[in-house]
This record gives sequence, structure tokens and C-alpha cells, in this order.
Amino acid sequence: MARGRLLRELARELVPSDLLRFVPKGFETIGDIAILNLPRELDEYKFEIARALLRRLSPHIRLVVRRASPARDPERVHEYEVLAGSGGLETLHKESGCIFKVDISRAFFSSRLQYERARIAGLVRPGEVVVNMFAGVGPFSIVIAKRVPDVKIYSIDVNPEAYKLMVENVKLNRVEDKVVPLLGDAAEVVDLYNLKGVADRVLMPSPEHAINYLAKAVESLKARGFIHYYDVARRVKDLRGYVLERVSPILDGAGARWRVEGVREIRSVAPSKSYVCADLYVERKVMD
Ligand SMILES: C[S@@+](CC[C@H](N)C(=O)[O-])C[C@H]1O[C@@H](n2cnc3c(N)ncnc32)[C@H](O)[C@@H]1O
Repeated sequence: MARGRLLRELARELVPSDLLRFVPKGFETIGDIAILNLPRELDEYKFEIARALLRRLSPHIRLVVRRASPARDPERVHEYEVLAGSGGLETLHKESGCIFKVDISRAFFSSRLQYERARIAGLVRPGEVVVNMFAGVGPFSIVIAKRVPDVKIYSIDVNPEAYKLMVENVKLNRVEDKVVPLLGDAAEVVDLYNLKGVADRVLMPSPEHAINYLAKAVESLKARGFIHYYDVARRVKDLRGYVLERVSPILDGAGARWRVEGVREIRSVAPSKSYVCADLYVERKVMD
């Protein structure tokens, strides 16, 4: 049964009819944890709804939580309130033939990016060098490494907890020969580890930070290559126009020749905001 329908069916038994409109349209699952973001209007019923959901989804789900804080920057990690079930916030999540150890209280992870990760992995060609500037616990890098022969992926994250989990995940998925986990600020790591001019492709999967690191992503490319640029677009009817306005000053300022190959809406994050990925083809100005 669709998740929204299941929630509405459970809530009909527990919540007065005038509050049913506040029941969320779905929930996210990461491993055996369900993240159910009930709004404040349903506070009085939150434990009952969560217990009912747990009863229905057990044993696949053992814990139901809700976000209790906005994402902390720069790690993009939330605090969570446990609504039902037991055990900690660490879990194993399976996706695209890979397995990820995740702790949602220590490092960012979203199962909603599964399609996007598979899409990007489908674009990578054998033999490529990839720089992933915002790698988290490693899902983009590891999905690529599992699918594509002979790749090298430099995987950077500034959160030490994400880095530790990424190192574990690289081992769990046996891709040590392809994924190189690196701890630190993406711009500093590119300089420190001499990742300038090495990449066929740069991934920037952090919509909050990508714009500030775009010039460094260009530096990281070989003479030409692709940048997958993520952003939260504030003009949902003109995603391409929004992206062009954001990236043009930086790419033109770097002296690059470039074009937008495509802009994809990953999901809507508010009535007038969309999480987007722009695939950019860039020819870097190479200094003699
Ligand atoms: C939205 S999460 C995406 C993580 C990962 N790509 C995924 O899909 O699970 C953004 C990640 O960027 C990391 N981050 C934020 N600022 C950073 C920086 N300056 N340098 C490197 N990583 C950074 C955060 O710690 C976080 O793990």
C-alpha cells in the first residue's frame, strides 16, 4: 500500500476528522527506521500514530522517529525525537546492490536520493576520475564504484562522523581500490591533496553549499568535464533560468566555456522551492 494511504488509514482510527488534513503524505525509511514528520497540530496523537505505524511495518521497521530540529550546518544533521520502538539511530540501509551503515544523528543520509545516485552512476564512464566534494557517508561514490569499472573517486566530507562511516562503508562494499575517503573542507582538500586538473567529473551534492564551491569545482576539472551542481531553486516555474542566473557569474568569472546539459527537479521542498541538479559541461581555461 502507498505510504500516504497507509498513514491516512491508520490516522482515521486515531485522529479527529478535522485534523486529518495535517497527516503527512508519506514518510521516509532508512534501513529499519521510519522518519515520520508529524506537524505540531498532531502532537497529541503522535505516539499513537507512530505505534500504529510500527505495528503495521514490524519487523521491517523497529523505530519511528521525527525530526526535532532544523539541520545543523555544515553537517546537515538533525536531532530526532523517538516516537515508537527501540534501539539506536544507527542502521544498515540497502540500495542499488550496496549497503550503507548510517547514523542519522551523526551524519546526513537520505534514502530519497536513490534514483539520483543511480542516475549519476549511469553517466560515469569506465576509467573516469571523479571528485565528490560533499560525500557524506559515501552513497554517491560507492554506487558509482560498484557499477563502473576502473574508476577513482575522491570522496570528501567535512564532518568527521560522516568520514568515519564512509571509511566503514567503503570496506563493507569492498571498493577500497576505487573510493578514496578524504576528511576536510572540500576547497581545502582540493588544494591540499592536489586535486586540481584531475577530474573528468565533479559531484556537488549539497544544495546549501555547492554555489560557494563552484569555482573550486572548475579548478578540479581536467581541461574539460562535467559538474553536477545541486541547488534549491526559488523559481519553480523556471528552474533552468534560476540555475543560469546562479552559476553564470562564477563560470564566466573563471573564464570557462560551458553549457547546461540538463536541469532535473529532484523533489519539491516547499510550495515555491525545488531541490534541483544541473548537469554542466565545462571547458576550463587552461593556463600555460
Ligand atoms: C546534503 S549532505 C549530502 C551527503 C551525501 N552526498 C549524500 O547524498 O548522502 C551534504 C554533506 O556535505 C558535507 N559538507 C558540508 N560542508 C562541507 C564542506 N565545506 N566541505 C566538505 N563537505 C561538506 C556535510 O557534512 C554533509 O555530509
